Amino acid sequence: MPTLSSSWTNTFPPKPAFTENDVPDLDHKVYLVTGANAGLGKELAQMLYAKHAKVYIAARSSEKAAAAISAIQAAAPSSRGALVFLPLDLADLSTIKAATQRFLAAETQLHVLWNNAGVMTPDSGPLTRTPQGLELNLGVNCVGAMLLTKLLTPILAATAAVSPPDTVRVVWLASFGTEMFAAKDIGVDLDVIAYTQEKKGEKVPPGTARYGISKAGVWALAVELGRRYGIVSVPLNPGNLRTELFRDQAGAFRLMTRAIGYPVRYGALSQLYAGLAPDVTAEGLEGNWGMLSLSFPLSLFLSFFLSFFLSFCPLRVKRLRLT
Ligand SMILES: NC(=O)c1ccc[n+]([C@@H]2O[C@H](COP(=O)([O-])OP(=O)(O)OC[C@H]3O[C@@H](n4cnc5c(N)ncnc54)[C@H](OP(=O)(O)O)[C@@H]3O)[C@@H](O)[C@H]2O)c1
Repeated sequence: MPTLSSSWTNTFPPKPAFTENDVPDLDHKVYLVTGANAGLGKELAQMLYAKHAKVYIAARSSEKAAAAISAIQAAAPSSRGALVFLPLDLADLSTIKAATQRFLAAETQLHVLWNNAGVMTPDSGPLTRTPQGLELNLGVNCVGAMLLTKLLTPILAATAAVSPPDTVRVVWLASFGTEMFAAKDIGVDLDVIAYTQEKKGEKVPPGTARYGISKAGVWALAVELGRRYGIVSVPLNPGNLRTELFRDQAGAFRLMTRAIGYPVRYGALSQLYAGLAPDVTAEGLEGNWGMLSLSFPLSLFLSFFLSFFLSFCPLRVKRLRLT
């Protein structure tokens, strides 16, 4: 469970300390935002495009991507930037390599990757799995994002080599849900991760708990990417926002998220800060509207879970012989 101070900060965050006004022109910058057709991702893409960046709108639906691109263009008609649709379904690992190949065929640089796309399964109802048999939250939020990032790491590293220090980054969307729903102190119970409880006649954790567990995994992936590759890798809790993330939850849950949620813009500003603010470095910082590093127990980081989880994701990917 979250601490009182963490719950308070999430419910009443400080004012944004970094906004579009602090962002210089982004001509010649190349960014990739997953899930950029809706919610925080779309708002962020608009902020970047308005500053003349080239933004890849990674989305699983061409219709939704086209609608988002039209809306963003209409909102920033004087932009010198570009918006490019990149088909990407993070639930199906077999499609991710094609998406990155498409990107790599067109670009020689990638300045920031925002692993924004995410899913939250309904609290009740049957457990949903990806085509590769992973629990859906884990598959999309962790394993899919990890494979995408792994395939883009060489271009990120190459871009970092010719860019000012700490400016090439990967931003990962973690969540307050980790503190709310993930297993106390460890983030995830190791016996749970394959979600085979039903076979043993045991109860499967509810959808929101599975979401929280996956977001603990996101946090772990973010920390480890920074350690291994020296790219600034930022796990971000963007705050509580009014988006479609909760569309599959029961009415009372949706009402509660509406009541405590803030306009989408604030979540996008959190992402803007994590991706572009000059005071964000490899060490990370707390502050601003969202929280860069979760006030999550350090014991999670030190736990066996982390090493298990970090071998779990690549293992799933390797089995498919994709890399
Ligand atoms: N809203 C909050 O309060 C809150 C709080 C903490 C963290 N977050 C995180 O913020 C991120 C953005 O969420 P949001 O609030 O903006 O929700 P949203 O409006 O539901 O947007 C989620 C985006 O992810 C995309 N997505 C879902 N599954 C995908 C898949 N398999 N492949 C590719 N894209 C996929 C969605 O595409 P479709 O439109 O096709 O479904 C959509 O573009 C998520 O990672 C979420 O967990 C949100």
